[in-house]
Amino acid sequence: MSSAPPTEALSTEALLATGQANTLDELQAVRTRYLGKSGLITRELGALGKLPAEERRARGAALNLLRAGVEAALRERGETLTRATLAARLAAEATDVSLPGLDLPVGGPHLISRILGDLEDIYARLGYTVVEGHEVEDDQHNFDALNIPWYHPARDLWDTFWLEDGRLLRTHTSPMQVRYMASHPPPLKIIVPGKVYRYEATDATHESMFHQLEGLVVGEHVSMADLKGTIAEMARGLFGPASRVRFQPSYYPFTEPGADFSVWWENPRGESRWLELGGCGMVHPNVFRAVDDLREERGLERVYEGKTGFAFGLGPERIAMLKYGIPDIRYFYANDLRVLEQFRGELE
Ligand code: DAH
Repeated sequence: MSSAPPTEALSTEALLATGQANTLDELQAVRTRYLGKSGLITRELGALGKLPAEERRARGAALNLLRAGVEAALRERGETLTRATLAARLAAEATDVSLPGLDLPVGGPHLISRILGDLEDIYARLGYTVVEGHEVEDDQHNFDALNIPWYHPARDLWDTFWLEDGRLLRTHTSPMQVRYMASHPPPLKIIVPGKVYRYEATDATHESMFHQLEGLVVGEHVSMADLKGTIAEMARGLFGPASRVRFQPSYYPFTEPGADFSVWWENPRGESRWLELGGCGMVHPNVFRAVDDLREERGLERVYEGKTGFAFGLGPERIAMLKYGIPDIRYFYANDLRVLEQFRGELE
């Protein structure tokens, strides 16, 4: 009789080898061993032709069954191993989200920008428009139209950086009052935040560059009471609902009457006192006249004479120094992070 191995033994052996293959490479070796060109099953199939016809049919059927069974087992094992390999790779490459992250340095708005931002919020709520002027100005807008002619001693109040072409770095934000009125008719409510420059020796309270916030309201029957209410509202927004304001007569060429205003404020260190914050007043008729002259030159209507309005100007550096007990204005622009970082998020 035939010496061919029984298909049951071959089947058991091949299925066992398949089940024991632990990697896709090992599985490939099992496939080659049984189903490769000269594999054990392939060889048996090839030998069928040499069998007598009556044996051939039964053996052929058994071998085909065997081959199908082994192929199915190889496929199934292959899928299992592929899934396991993938799972192992995913596990190995997974990011551990509980690991501490890299601490990237994050910047933030400068304290002065934050104070200006707070002021803008306060005035936006009161219906003001925020406008920005030019840092390079001419003496007409910075001085003359603001009732400060060249011979006026008040020019000494503002030490000026002059440019070679006769223009200047604005010494205050007030020139934007003139620019805005020259191109917009009343009524109006604007604030002007921005940088201003003074040509002076720096010390703890003087810098050659600092910021101001200018305010201007013009309409019919605008009064000093409106001005006081507005400044009081700003003080409450900046320093809390209990803060009070005080006005003292003062002189500014572009206001009549003019005043300085202070805020009574209790700071977190338990001190309370009057803090002088800025200047204000009713817009001087000469300013309205100068604005109308400018408008006329441009072919616009004279619309300001006879109107009333108030204006104010204050410095955010001063607010920051008073509010946080910062002793020297030069700290703001020396870019020392030890100073600046203390105020990150402070005004939230
Ligand atoms: N421009 C003034 C200054 O720089 C501040 C100021 C005072 C502005 C009174 C005003 C004002 O609008 O009415 O010293």
